[in-house]
This record gives sequence, structure tokens and C-alpha cells, in this order.
Amino acid sequence: MLSSYSLRLPKVVFAGEHATEKIAGIVGELGATQAVLFTDAGLRKIGIADAACAALEQTGCKVSIIDDIPAEPTYAAVQHAVDELKRLGADVIVGVGGGSVMDTAKLASVAATDAYSVHDLLADPSQVSKQLPTIMVPTTAGTGAEATPNAIVAVPEEELKVGIVSDALISDYVILDADMIKNLPRPIAASTGIDALCHAIECYTSTKANPFSDTFALEAFDLIVNNIECACDDPEAMDAKRAMQVASFYAGIAITSSGTTAVHALSYPLGGKYHVAHGVSNAILLMPVMHFNEPVIRGRLAAAYDRAITGDATTDEQKSAAVIERMDQIVRHLDIPKKLDELGIHDVPVDELAKAGMKVTRLLSNNMREVTYEDAKAIYQQVM
Ligand SMILES: NC(=O)c1ccc[n+]([C@@H]2O[C@H](COP(=O)([O-])OP(=O)(O)OC[C@H]3O[C@@H](n4cnc5c(N)ncnc54)[C@H](O)[C@@H]3O)[C@@H](O)[C@H]2O)c1
Ligand SMILES: [Zn+2]
Repeated sequence: MLSSYSLRLPKVVFAGEHATEKIAGIVGELGATQAVLFTDAGLRKIGIADAACAALEQTGCKVSIIDDIPAEPTYAAVQHAVDELKRLGADVIVGVGGGSVMDTAKLASVAATDAYSVHDLLADPSQVSKQLPTIMVPTTAGTGAEATPNAIVAVPEEELKVGIVSDALISDYVILDADMIKNLPRPIAASTGIDALCHAIECYTSTKANPFSDTFALEAFDLIVNNIECACDDPEAMDAKRAMQVASFYAGIAITSSGTTAVHALSYPLGGKYHVAHGVSNAILLMPVMHFNEPVIRGRLAAAYDRAITGDATTDEQKSAAVIERMDQIVRHLDIPKKLDELGIHDVPVDELAKAGMKVTRLLSNNMREVTYEDAKAIYQQVM
């Protein structure tokens, strides 16, 4: 537990019915006249960004759209979007999408300058300064990227995903509108929801955990454990979906104040090398890492049990086992693969994965139990 800690938040968060309409007021307040809306082609096709566009147009703002953003973008794909933004000109950025779109929009808000490129930020994020105000509208629940100071890009030459972290990346305004996630397809709702679950439990069991992050991480954990299955299974379960949306935002705040641990650290090479979707790679690693960490996080898992789970466990050992079992049950219920084999990824060189995973020191250093190269290999071995 940290003895000194801080919490940084977006300036304003609008939540609830038709919250997207609030964009008009924000743009008016900012005096913005040229907006660039970031989204992806699939989302644009199904009209998810229409409400945000309408709100922007209502203010008389000129609206341009950048929608060629791939899922889990490379730094080069982000730079391409930044170059397009610079060509179009803007005084406000709106991101309507999942983590891929939001991270691209967030990076664009700091990289719309000739002073540095996105690639430069990989080596030195300290030079970052915000160039344009941002409004984030998450459409998955989710990465929590609407709250975090992180933006994750793939670095193909290193077969890794890398997080660029700076307070300048924290969004200025956030819109949590359940209409955005209403029709989220089950597999996407499931894997992105597990990502939020990982954020919550990892931040709660991180060396950086502190009273601020605990507040948000525990509430997120409680909401997710008790709503994720219903939110994914029942298209009409709007209360459960709203709970997931708030929970993923809270888990994002927990990241801002604490940090994720070995699940996310070891997940990055699976995304970088094998292009496993972020939520899926976390789901695959959740159980092995939780079992590995259990002896040193038992008390914290027991507290999570007391908060979120109803059962007859009485000792810390029983409670901690029940929390791990409950998370496993959720992953199984949601039909998320638990092995790389099930994703058609075979003959994986475990030593290479472990070498790549050990490079993610930013997150491994948050893990309460030290992870050695041999430990990383043993963990990866379990997910083959
Ligand atoms: N910045 C952070 O703090 C942070 C945290 C975790 C993950 N990430 C990053 O975020 C990215 C993953 O984001 P994600 O998990 O939200 O997925 P995503 O943004 O990659 O989207 C996955 C797919 O879901 C589709 N989709 C999104 N919303 C939808 C909707 N409402 N209806 C139908 N389809 C929809 C997208 O079009 C896309 O095809 C990864 O690059 C990951 O590394 C960032
Ligand atoms: Zn994540």
C-alpha cells in the first residue's frame, strides 16, 4: 500500500440517458468551431457516432470524421490519424469508440504538433503536452480509457504493445451513455468486460494500491462480478449494462491512481505478437496469475469477497479461493477461450514470450509477488 498517492480525474463526466447530447453544451462552453470526431469504420456503419455528430452539428461546429482506425492500432496507424487531424484542423477532439479509438483520439490530442511524433513519445512521454481538449464517449465497457492517463499502441518491430502514460492524456470530458453499449455483441461485451474486471482486481492487489484506488477498484469489482453475465447475456438488461459502463469507468480511475499488474504485463506480448484481443489475452492470463499471486494477496482477495460475493466462506483462505473461483466461473460462462490453443495459436516459443513479458517492467513492478523469468515461463506454459 502506497503511503503517498494522488488521483487525477477528467474535468466533467456526464452519465445517464441521452448523455451524448451534452456534447453540444461542452462545445459551446469551449467556444469550439471545428471538431474532429474519431471513430472506427464498423461503428460508423452501425451509426453509433450519429448522436455525437448531431450534437456537434447542433452548435454550428464544422465536423470532420476520422474513421480509419484499426482495432488495437500500431503507433504508425495512430500517427496516420494524427497527420489527418493536422491536415483537417480542429479545436476539439471527440472520440466515440472502444479503447482503440479512444487511445488514438487521446494521443492525437497531444501529438497534433510538429514538436514530436507518436514514435517519439514511446521513448520519452515526459515531453507530452495537451494541444486540444478531448471528449471521450466509450462504446465498450471496457478499457476505462476514458478515465486513464494511458494510451496503448502496438509496436510491431518489438512484437509488443506499449503504454504511453501522461497526465496530459486524461480526457477533459467523458460521456457515459448506455445507448452506446446497448447493442454491443456478446463476445465483445464479454472480453471488454473481463478487461474491466482485470483492471479492478489488479489495481486492488497492486503495490500501488491506496485508499483512493481501493474505493474505485472495489466498487468496480462488486459491480462487475454482479452484473457482467446478465449484461452480456440479456440484450434488454439495461441496468446491468449501465452498471458495467460505470464500473469500467471506475476501474479506469483505479488505474489512474494505482496500476495493473502481471495479468496486463504478460498480456502485452500476446497482443503484440499474436494479435490476441486485449480483453481475451487478459482473460487467458487471469487465472494463472491470480493463483501465482494468491499467497501474497490473500487478505486483499478476502476483502474483495466480503464486498462482492455472497457465500459461506469464513477464513481468508476460503474467501480468496472463492473469489478466484468466481472469476473463473465468469470467464467460463462468457465462453472466452482460456488457452492459446483454442485461438488457433500453436507451438508458441514460451521463452520468447517470457522475454517479451519481462520487458513490461512498468506493470510487473506493480505485482505484489516478484515475477522472475522462470515464473513468467511457467505462467505462459499454463495457457498453451
Ligand atoms: N488506455 C487505456 O487505459 C487502455 C486500457 C485497456 C485497454 N486499452 C487498449 O484498448 C484497446 C482495446 O479496446 P476495446 O477492448 O474497447 O476494443 P476495440 O476498441 O479494439 O473494439 C473492438 C471491436 O469492437 C467494436 N465495437 C466497439 N464498440 C462497439 C459497439 N458499441 N457495438 C458494436 N461493436 C463495437 C469495434 O468496432 C471493434 O471492432 C487495446 O488496444 C488495448 O490495449 C487501453
Ligand atoms: Zn486492460
